[in-house]
Amino acid sequence: ATDDGSLQAQLRKLHVQQTDFQGCYPHLNPVDVYRIHLANALSDVTGVEPKTIYPLIQRTATLDKGDLLLPVPALKIKGDQPDVLAVRWVDQFPESPLVTKPVVDGPFIRFYFKPAVLVKQVIPSVLQNRSKWGNNPMLGLKDANDASQGQKRVVIEFSSPNIAKPFHQGHLRSTIIGGFLANLYEGAGWDVVRLNYLGDWGKQYGLLALGFKMFGDDKSLEEDPIHHLYQIYVKINQMLADERKEIERLETAGEDASNLRNEGLDEQARQYFKAMCDNDSEAIKMWKKFRELSIQRYKKSYTRLNMHFDEYAGESLVKEESMKNVEKQLEKKGLTEESQGAMIVDFSKHVPGKSGKALGKALIRKKDGTSLYLTRDIGALFERNEHYKFDQMVYVVATDQELHLKQLFKVVELTDNEDLRSRITHVRFGLVLGMSTRRGTVVFLDDVLRDVGEKMHEVMKKNEAKYARVSDPEKTADILGISSVMVQDMSGNRINNYHFNIDTMTSFEGDTGVPVSEIESADLNLLAEPHAINIVRLVAQFPDTIQNTLKTLEPTTVLTYLFRLTHAINSSYDVLQVVGSERELMKARLALYDAARSVINNGMRLLGLTPVDR
Ligand code: ARG
Repeated sequence: ATDDGSLQAQLRKLHVQQTDFQGCYPHLNPVDVYRIHLANALSDVTGVEPKTIYPLIQRTATLDKGDLLLPVPALKIKGDQPDVLAVRWVDQFPESPLVTKPVVDGPFIRFYFKPAVLVKQVIPSVLQNRSKWGNNPMLGLKDANDASQGQKRVVIEFSSPNIAKPFHQGHLRSTIIGGFLANLYEGAGWDVVRLNYLGDWGKQYGLLALGFKMFGDDKSLEEDPIHHLYQIYVKINQMLADERKEIERLETAGEDASNLRNEGLDEQARQYFKAMCDNDSEAIKMWKKFRELSIQRYKKSYTRLNMHFDEYAGESLVKEESMKNVEKQLEKKGLTEESQGAMIVDFSKHVPGKSGKALGKALIRKKDGTSLYLTRDIGALFERNEHYKFDQMVYVVATDQELHLKQLFKVVELTDNEDLRSRITHVRFGLVLGMSTRRGTVVFLDDVLRDVGEKMHEVMKKNEAKYARVSDPEKTADILGISSVMVQDMSGNRINNYHFNIDTMTSFEGDTGVPVSEIESADLNLLAEPHAINIVRLVAQFPDTIQNTLKTLEPTTVLTYLFRLTHAINSSYDVLQVVGSERELMKARLALYDAARSVINNGMRLLGLTPVDR
């Protein structure tokens, strides 16, 4: 504590306490202390305001490039060349307690933190804040200077599977990325609403209901709604495909197909869906049951993934009134037109140039008055805006629905809701290729999770000695299996497609805990080896990494950081031994490893991974 006190005093002398810099939180992010110091020191040598310099100081890509850097051209100083300025400023740079003599690298000035001070700033900060370290509750405040104004609210819509259809790769990715984003915003102090927008409405569900009447069975439905409904879905769709073929055959032969057209499955499904829309009580009752049972089942899977939703919304729940309202607005603006009895928006007429053409035409209302996927999304958006009064809403949906979301966003824009338009974002992602399970090529979430768990169990059994020490191998295998699926998913940028491969599974293993009381009294001056310093420098970057992730919204930003840190730790075990070291050194190293472990755990939890002890 005395160390910390004198450090604080030192920092006060450097004027790092008073801060009028934007996005600067020295009590939560140790690197900000350095930024303040550098902004002030650089101001003295450049004559530029600290406030101007502060946001121009950048993170480095790797530690060999320094801890922070200043690209001189960013200061926009006229006259001398940036590299000449860099040399001059570094010459004049004052002796500093926090950084070593800056290094000129062309137009860049690189700064390296002095290890002794860094260690004493970072490790205690991590150990005091533990699971909260890396969080920044200030970022989500409506008014950064007045917490009483409350938190900003973000609605994250993710997962959103379709009842009766398989929970496919796209849903899995949406679930993983959405869950991560929810954690990310929560850590940044936002009020997060996790929303699951189920695909539970439309003509296809009319068809499903018909199918259930033909081959459904209440007992199977109760037992395993997802699979049972899927079986029915496949069967009835096969029948529908046959019916369509038959109509085509008849009509190409010049025969009369009107019977099939007027009374066939397709028409019955349409009528059934119409009845659902008109609130037919029996149709609605059956529909509710499908929905409820499916949700119960989904919840079990989400729990396995460490995940929950605040609300199960769904296409079925969008009010007719909200859709009508928007349609009226569209009509008033002259954006809609009639086409063969249906109502459409032809974007090419209202949005100039290529983008209007690309948006094409969208069907808003069918001839029989029923709504469409897009109509429901429009209605849902306005309802959510009313209901949640969100500051941001994020749609976590695959790129293959990009056109759909662009149309949705454009409708919002065209109806003069520019403010609302500015608060919604599409977080996109690419495809997972080649995902199939041992039970077939149609992917069900549960099957995937079971497969990877079993696979991981097999891998674990190969190391008998280690296996014997795992207390609940099945559970551990399950966790590791799920983790490996998620890590694979988060390894690249969201937009990239990737090949699912059950055989290349990575696992994260944490270290076991150590007694806390011992660690608190550790003399951190003993951590002087380059390996130790490297770990501390990486640990120091965690809050910055998270802040950056709030910009990229990429899980891989965090994952890449964690891999860097775990590699640094793995390569230090031989050099920085704990067991067998002299007692005081042992305590210092334990403190180091413990801090690093906290950061890894925090990073993993942020990604939705479950740290395991062994
Ligand atoms: N249920 C849709 C599907 O599986 C995804 C929903 C995406 N979200 C939205 N608001 N349209 O294709």
